[in-house]
Amino acid sequence: MSEDKVKITIWPETQSFEVEKGAKLMTALKENGYEINSSCGGCASCSDCIVLIKAGEDNLSAQEFPELKLLGNVFHITKERLSCQTLVLGDVSVDISKHKDKSIKKKFEQKKSGSVVVKKREVVEQETKEKEVAREEKYQKWKSEQGNKGGFKKAKPFFIKDSDE
Ligand code: FES
Repeated sequence: MSEDKVKITIWPETQSFEVEKGAKLMTALKENGYEINSSCGGCASCSDCIVLIKAGEDNLSAQEFPELKLLGNVFHITKERLSCQTLVLGDVSVDISKHKDKSIKKKFEQKKSGSVVVKKREVVEQETKEKEVAREEKYQKWKSEQGNKGGFKKAKPFFIKDSDE
């Protein structure tokens, strides 16, 4: 391994790959095919990109204000870092299992396997029309029943008595 390269190991030690020293952790993971959640695009405001550091925490860049603002000064307890704000300066081992569960890839696979129902626009429009017709029929039925029962009570008129009378 050359001096310019560092190793990132995906905990629990199943896969590893080399990246340029000083690479952003999230970018390095994504470029090597790992799905990392992100809602803010890497500007330290969503905290979706959190990874757990299992080993080599001293080989990461120091936490700066944007990251500390979001996570607090509790790395020594949680071992969490924002992958979008962390530079890899040496060998590290990271746990990204949280991201695998929610990966877009998985959602896409679910869609393909049929666990997510995809309907054509015409079918959705037809179903919507049918629901509207059923709702209107139900309403008319309810309205006629109310009429038979004498529903829709009118408010009783009230009169103000003159105090002199
Ligand atoms: S991607 Fe949003 S905080 Fe890192």
